[in-house]
Amino acid sequence: MLTNQERRDQLTQLNAQAEVGGGIERINKQHEQGKYSARERLEKLLDPQSFMEFDKFVVHKSRAFGIEKTQYLGDGVITGIGTINGQQVAVFSQDFTCWGGALGAAYAKKICKVMDFALEHRIPIIGLNDSGGARIQEGVESLAGYAEIFWRNAQCSGVIPQISLILGPCAGGAVYSPALTDFIFMVEKTSYMFVTGPDVIKTVTHEEVTKEALGGAGTHNEKSGVAHFKCTDEDDCFERVRELLSYLPASSADKPTAVMTSDAANRSNVKLKDFVPDNSRKPYDMKELIVEVVDDGNFLEVHRDYAKNILCGFASVGGMKIGIVANQPAILAGVLDIDSSVKAGRFVRFCDAFNIPVVTFVDVPGFLPGTVQEYGGIIRHGAKLLYAYCEATVPLITVITRKAYGGAYDVMASKHIRSDINLAYPTAEIAVMGAEGAVNIIFRNELAGLKGAEFDKKKKELVENYENEFANPYRAAELGYLDEVVFPEQTRSRIYQCLKALEHKKARKPDRKHGNIPL
Ligand code: HXC
Repeated sequence: MLTNQERRDQLTQLNAQAEVGGGIERINKQHEQGKYSARERLEKLLDPQSFMEFDKFVVHKSRAFGIEKTQYLGDGVITGIGTINGQQVAVFSQDFTCWGGALGAAYAKKICKVMDFALEHRIPIIGLNDSGGARIQEGVESLAGYAEIFWRNAQCSGVIPQISLILGPCAGGAVYSPALTDFIFMVEKTSYMFVTGPDVIKTVTHEEVTKEALGGAGTHNEKSGVAHFKCTDEDDCFERVRELLSYLPASSADKPTAVMTSDAANRSNVKLKDFVPDNSRKPYDMKELIVEVVDDGNFLEVHRDYAKNILCGFASVGGMKIGIVANQPAILAGVLDIDSSVKAGRFVRFCDAFNIPVVTFVDVPGFLPGTVQEYGGIIRHGAKLLYAYCEATVPLITVITRKAYGGAYDVMASKHIRSDINLAYPTAEIAVMGAEGAVNIIFRNELAGLKGAEFDKKKKELVENYENEFANPYRAAELGYLDEVVFPEQTRSRIYQCLKALEHKKARKPDRKHGNIPL
């Protein structure tokens, strides 16, 4: 019979064995590649000493292709609970040192168990992904394991925040679980996502592409929009995950907690007095406006490098957390196109699911015209943003800074689709379209007979008339489509007042199973 001390030694030895994963050599290889080990990552992400591990001694039961000869305690994934800035979270961290982090049946069961825990106890789930996909030796059991995870991702969606960190090569099944989550973080030069890697592509399509170009952090943050955050290294990544989490409630049953700030809620935005240029064709940086308005200038941008003609991100005003959607006149004049509609639509839905009020800043000349957009389905994709706003029941506050033209006026949280409080600057122009375009259409016949200086003079006169008549906020204000025309320096204090007024908003939803967003 073992003595008490021997039993203690046994546990110490088993713990040590589990903690070394696939061995020191493979851990060193991770380090050489600028990557931390799975365990080091959790230490860095979570609050010190807060991690409690589940299923540390689980092993696989597979007996094929020689895998029975190798057993790693924990089976290549570390799961458990911990805290981030004091907030409870559930985590799993895939260990590349064990079969390249590849997923087998026991490994999948561990992830499912911690996801079930997170859902049942309504805490965010964070996945640290570094995996070669389905564990080939385990065949269909690996595929089944993935599907079990996907199903849980869908069950968790809109109930608890789901965050994915891509920290190595993620291939095959390893990309679809992250794709079902709310936010994906990638690290430059060390993380990759692809359904099929460069070798398979070469065989099937004869296309030659590097893994960086195919599925690196740049590709997915700038081109595909699959990822939401591009980080310089893993430390940067953990820092930004912690920052993101600080804006989120634990689940859809909660509201985000208020933050302490010394930034006075009624601070006047003097900088914004003449911020919007006199000339309505002149661009300005909407990000500067946002930074001026929010607490301490802190604006956490989501999808910063994708569809830059719209801005989405988190901030707070007077300590109250908000999601911000804003047209960016500095890029493509802030036009709405396919990518920006999808980006903002998804963001609005996230905020709505997690009780985060949405503040929308509008300066939009309309939807981008052209065959590329039409063939690409701008009608369907634009409708996603429209749908997202229409179904949102969180407090909605809208500030029109300049242009709000055409269908884009309706879409960008107009009063008509149930925004709660709509404000506009004196520089707002709310019309069916810009003056030039409108004059060309309505006065086509009148202008047709004119040439040269006569044409120019008449057109200028008509454009000026149109601008005087429509390029202002007062028609909309007369009709009650705006609640107030405000001076720009009042932006922050008004948003705070609105948030306070809407704090207890209860909106009714139609009785239905679920809507059918135009996917
Ligand atoms: C079992 C695997 C593995 C896998 C890697 N390994 N992928 N073992 N199943 N899927 C093992 C390797 O044999 C090696 O073992 C160790 O992990 C490290 O792999 P390396 O190739 O040496 O590392 P690296 O050069 O960095 O390349 C990493 C990689 C590459 C890009 C991930 O290993 C790779 O392409 N793997 C296969 C990816 C893939 O096709 N997966 C299946 C996708 S299908 P040793 O013992 O030498 O350390 C799929 C279906 C799910 O996922 C679909 C659900 C919808």
